[in-house]
This record gives sequence, structure tokens and C-alpha cells, in this order.
Amino acid sequence: MAIIIKSDDEIAIMRQSGSIVAQTMQKLLAELRPGLVVKELDAIVRKEFVKHDVIPTFLGYAQPPYPATVCVSVNDEIVHGIPGRRVLQDGDVVSIDLGCTYKGFVADHAVTAIVGTAKPGMRELVDVTKGALDEGIKHLRPGNKLGEVSHAIGEYIESRGFGVVREYTGHGVGRAMHEDPQVPNFGPADRGPVLKKGMVLALEPMVTVGDWRTRQLDDKWTVSTMDGSWAAHFEHTIAVTDGDAVVLTVP
Ligand code: MF3
Ligand code: CO
Repeated sequence: MAIIIKSDDEIAIMRQSGSIVAQTMQKLLAELRPGLVVKELDAIVRKEFVKHDVIPTFLGYAQPPYPATVCVSVNDEIVHGIPGRRVLQDGDVVSIDLGCTYKGFVADHAVTAIVGTAKPGMRELVDVTKGALDEGIKHLRPGNKLGEVSHAIGEYIESRGFGVVREYTGHGVGRAMHEDPQVPNFGPADRGPVLKKGMVLALEPMVTVGDWRTRQLDDKWTVSTMDGSWAAHFEHTIAVTDGDAVVLTVP
């Protein structure tokens, strides 16, 4: 397992990649409303990515090839939802996951938002998931073990009574969307590689209101909670520096 160290120049490119993804994400979030057909979000991404001259990293990824430019996961869907004919309803909780490749470098970013009026408990789910990502970022410092990051994220979530998805993890990111190391959202603090300046990681806590166990739908992509409870997902692409980590997926 080799973790690829990025130069300052490479991180500068990744920051531009991250900026394009984050700007596009803001456009998508502004579109969320009851009545929106989810695949319209895919159309917006295609147009924006042509404008910025970036490659949609997700399109054609893996086997069977992912068929869209963005993942949209609604309510009990956790990640990898394929944008289709579904119509958003008031009180839906929607996770949007987006990646682009700019000058050969990938930025990976996810946000969860509520459409219209939140149902009871929904806002706390979203806030805890976002808070868990922020907690992980605080521990992303040179000299810390990666396990400290995973542990901090998992403790933050479980101490608030929510479930931590186990089967999917964060990851290194750079010239490939998924590089070493995997970054679980739980586990002991005294494990894993020591963090160094120039590592770039995608942290992405996936949180459930109920049980953390997942199932994959017949489309071979969409991952839902087994028990039908709501889920949320936040993700940033982040560089380890000499001091505080730097979030690259910001506008
Ligand atoms: N953020 C997701 C991940 O790290 C994006 C993958 S979606 C895919 O796995 F369609 F490209 F697989
Ligand atoms: Co990711």
C-alpha cells in the first residue's frame, strides 16, 4: 500500500479541480425543490463540465459502468444513486456526490440537503453527518495516524446515536479517484499510516438514522439502508499540509 505524495504544484491543480466541483455543486443545490426530476441534475453537470472543460470522473466508472455524471441518493439511499425519472418531494433528504478530473487530477465532493420542509429528525441527521466530516478534518494533521481520523469520525456519529456505514469508506485521491489508503469512518485510533504533508484524502462519512447495514439495489449501483431508515453523506477532498489541513473542494 503506497500513499502517493502530491507536490505543491499538483495540490494547486487539485484546488482548481475542487473549485469547479464545488461551484457546480452550488448550482445543483440551488435547483433542489419539490417537483424537480432528478436526472435534470445530471444534465446541469454535463453542461457545466463542458463549460469548465473538465471530465466527469464518475461517468463510465467501474463495472457495470456508472451511467451518469453525478450520484443522487434520496431518503433511504445512502450513496451511488443513479439520477433518473424520480420526482423530488417536499421533505426528501438528498445526497449529491460529484467528481471531476481537471488537468489529470480528480476532486470528489458530496453534500446532503433537505428539499423544502425537513421531517422530524432529518435536520439532526444532516448536521451530525456534516459535523463528523468537520471532526475528521480537524484530526488530519501531519504526525497523526490515519486511525485517529477514522476514530474521531466514528465516535462523533455513534455518540450522537446515529449509525456509521461500514461497507464504504473514504480514500486517497489524485490522478485516480480511488488511491490508497482507504479511510474507514470508524475504528481504533492507533492504527494505520502516519499522515504526511502532501497526502490528499477524500473523507466521506455516511450516516444512518437506524441500522448501518446496507443493500444494493437491482440497478447494481444504488446503495440503500437495509432497514429503510434515512441516510446522509458529506465528502471533501482535503490536502494534508504542515499545519491545518486544506479543504480543496470549496468554490
Ligand atoms: N464519492 C464516490 C466514491 O468515492 C463516488 C463514486 S461514484 C461512481 O466512491 F459512480 F463513480 F462510482
Ligand atoms: Co469518494
